[in-house]
Amino acid sequence: MKIGIIGCGAIGSFIAKVMDGRVVALFDVVRDKAVRLAEELKFKPKVAKSFEEFVSLEMDLVVEAASQKAVRDYGERILESGKDLMVLSVGALDEKFLKKLERVARRNGKRVYIPSGAIVGIDGVKAVSDMIAEVELITRKNPKAFGLRTEKPTILFEGSAKDAIRLFPQNVNIAATLSLAGVGYERTRVKIIADPDVEKNVHEIRVRGDFGEIVTITKNVKMNDRTSLLAALSAVRLLKDLEGVVVIGT
Ligand SMILES: NC(=O)c1ccc[n+]([C@@H]2O[C@H](COP(=O)([O-])OP(=O)(O)OC[C@H]3O[C@@H](n4cnc5c(N)ncnc54)[C@H](O)[C@@H]3O)[C@@H](O)[C@H]2O)c1
Repeated sequence: MKIGIIGCGAIGSFIAKVMDGRVVALFDVVRDKAVRLAEELKFKPKVAKSFEEFVSLEMDLVVEAASQKAVRDYGERILESGKDLMVLSVGALDEKFLKKLERVARRNGKRVYIPSGAIVGIDGVKAVSDMIAEVELITRKNPKAFGLRTEKPTILFEGSAKDAIRLFPQNVNIAATLSLAGVGYERTRVKIIADPDVEKNVHEIRVRGDFGEIVTITKNVKMNDRTSLLAALSAVRLLKDLEGVVVIGT
């Protein structure tokens, strides 16, 4: 598989290093970041000067690890140019835009991949999505993450994923992935808690329905201020699955 990467920050660099040899092209608006990453790789990918140059190169799949704007600006053109697309900036995918990408992908015989990202349990949520009565994401972070000081756990937000994404953009990808896997942005509930007892970012999924109940807890180590290592690992795993013949997990 020939892979192109847009965005050579924490996630893009991690993926490029693990998938060295498959990565044939890099693009970053800050060109130096792409150049420096290319230097660190054993099999030198092409560093594109512009998105136009990048998208004209031959590859099977483009990993977007840049920004929501990148997904909106480049998503359709990547699919139209005959490449599959893996989206990390999932917050860009409101239901309307995702439908649009889906139509373009279908027309071009291509696919859009959204890795589970920094949360565990998306496999189960996907499987039971038609039977979900209630789904809730409970995120606990140290008050410092919100620029706060509290002595005891304090609920900062309780409401729909749609509003959570607007008010707490740093939580956007997890809430978006859970919403898309399950019952959408309106019906997915989100609770955000500033908790002095936690150091890692802790995400809990609680799902109930006729299938039974799912509860998962993920305690994430971070790569930078915002990004959990699991997000990058989950994208790498999905890329490897795409190359494999046995796929484990839903
Ligand atoms: N799916 C998930 O669970 C998950 C988890 C964490 C982060 N993310 C998202 O993944 C993306 C990358 O995260 P990161 O921590 O690696 O970020 P980062 O800031 O470390 O790196 C992003 C890179 O993309 C480049 N970039 C930004 N906009 C661009 C554009 N329009 N065209 C080309 N390059 C552009 C930047 O210059 C930067 O080098 C972010 O949007 C983040 O929100 C997703």
